[in-house]
Amino acid sequence: MALVVVTNRIPAEGLEALRAEHEVRAWEHEECISRADCLRLVAGADAVVTLLTEKVDGEFLDAAGPQLQVVANVAVGYNNIDVAACQARGVIATNTPKVLTETTADTAFGLMLMVTRRFGEGERIIRSQTPWQWGMFYLLGMGLQGKTLGIVGMGQIGAAMARRAVAFGMDIVYSDEHEAPAELLAGMPSGAVRRMSFDELLRVSDVVSLHCPYLPSTHHLMGAEQFAAMKRTAYVVNSARGPIIDEAALVAALQAGEIAGAGLDVFEQEPTVHPGLLAMDNVVLLPHLGSATTETRAAMARLAADNVLAVLRGERPITPIT
Ligand code: DGY
Repeated sequence: MALVVVTNRIPAEGLEALRAEHEVRAWEHEECISRADCLRLVAGADAVVTLLTEKVDGEFLDAAGPQLQVVANVAVGYNNIDVAACQARGVIATNTPKVLTETTADTAFGLMLMVTRRFGEGERIIRSQTPWQWGMFYLLGMGLQGKTLGIVGMGQIGAAMARRAVAFGMDIVYSDEHEAPAELLAGMPSGAVRRMSFDELLRVSDVVSLHCPYLPSTHHLMGAEQFAAMKRTAYVVNSARGPIIDEAALVAALQAGEIAGAGLDVFEQEPTVHPGLLAMDNVVLLPHLGSATTETRAAMARLAADNVLAVLRGERPITPIT
């Protein structure tokens, strides 16, 4: 029996699978674990299950000890993991792709609808008991039909967003290092999805939706220059990672009317949100709900557990990061 440490609360589907085969030491408190408690908890672990709130770096791996075999992140994004530090110590790192694709695309699509149709703004009017009356020109938004959606990063989630947008009658363009494989775009009408350069995508899109991973190369991918290149009537949606957008530049672009609005599920300094964004009605803000459904979180926990169980049995992990 090996020791598996789980550094934050995860759904029972994951915990029970781990407990069936191993000793499990889990953080059971409502609040997220502190760094100090986390370093203490992982000591002696053969496997660790982490969330995106834990920074898995050299210090973390050393605190766990040389017997550590695998770090299983319960998230598809793994910018919280120093992959090189894991590799240097022979520790396998895994994530949870695919199981959260549709849920995260729902979140991105929801943000797009909310911001273009001003649903958040409308809801705030009612909740604040501000007087209102139906009117021909009251709270008009932008219709999505016939508009162009620019997808930055055509992976699983980008493609799921594209499928939704095709069903809504949008034209799809995307930028990516690679041409999307045919199976990723299966079911979409041929020619409905076009690849172009990032610069061109910014110029032609009515909505720019970010679906790329957060890497050194995508840090502040959207900055002052990029917002200036967008249509003044266009919106940006981010359900990927906060620091892909330079938030100060976004606030400046919104204040200057260089773009029409933003829908954000992620932030540069989570959970802090730039005060400039809080003050704007043409911005929709969600507290990182991308994969937040009961079903998806259960599937993520189960996949992370299955990765751990595979490695501890001496098998290949199901979804290794590298
Ligand atoms: C992920 O998996 O990367 C999401 O951001 C977590 O919901």
